[in-house]
Amino acid sequence: MSTVEKYIRSIPDFPEQGIIFRDITTVTQDPEGLQLAIKSMEDKIKDKDFDVIVGLEARGFMFGTPIAFDMKKAFVPIRKKGKLPWKTISESYDLEYGSAEIEIHTDAIKEGQKVVIVDDLIATGGTVKAAINLIERLGGEVVSCLFLTELAGLNGRKALEGYNVESVVVYE
Ligand code: PRP
Ligand code: ADE
Repeated sequence: MSTVEKYIRSIPDFPEQGIIFRDITTVTQDPEGLQLAIKSMEDKIKDKDFDVIVGLEARGFMFGTPIAFDMKKAFVPIRKKGKLPWKTISESYDLEYGSAEIEIHTDAIKEGQKVVIVDDLIATGGTVKAAINLIERLGGEVVSCLFLTELAGLNGRKALEGYNVESVVVYE
């Protein structure tokens, strides 16, 4: 068991029957858990050349912002539809349970900027693929997709063929 894994709480049948929910609040509510999570994620991208961390609402903000701060990079949020106040572009996608739409401000990424996307978890990869589409529509280049946890059985990596994918804790 990786050292971060012991802080993740697994809850059966949430939010619906058959889903094992990987709860990262037990990571961040513990000072050592939070340190381990942020440092382990930073370690995965320490050799990457990039300008911006893009965090995915909501749990991606919890990890993306401290990583951007530590590594002295910019932080840009991608939010669920209807939350960003200025001009946006949007993408729809399917989830392990349900579907959603996400948005980014049109001036958040400049042409040619190198981006690392950060989220707590990759399941089907639908969310991060939609985020990649938004970033590329603005002229950004995605150099890595970084997650604390990966649900390998849901084949998210397959949706991200051709992109660098890094995760700290993998569930089969
Ligand atoms: C969860 C998780 C990822 C996404 C992964 O977010 O934090 O963003 O699902 O699923 P996928 O790989 O199948 O797309 P959720 O949409 O539940 O939003 P939240 O972070 O606001 O709770
Ligand atoms: N997002 C999608 N699937 C999830 C899961 N099994 N646990 C936590 N977050 C998720």
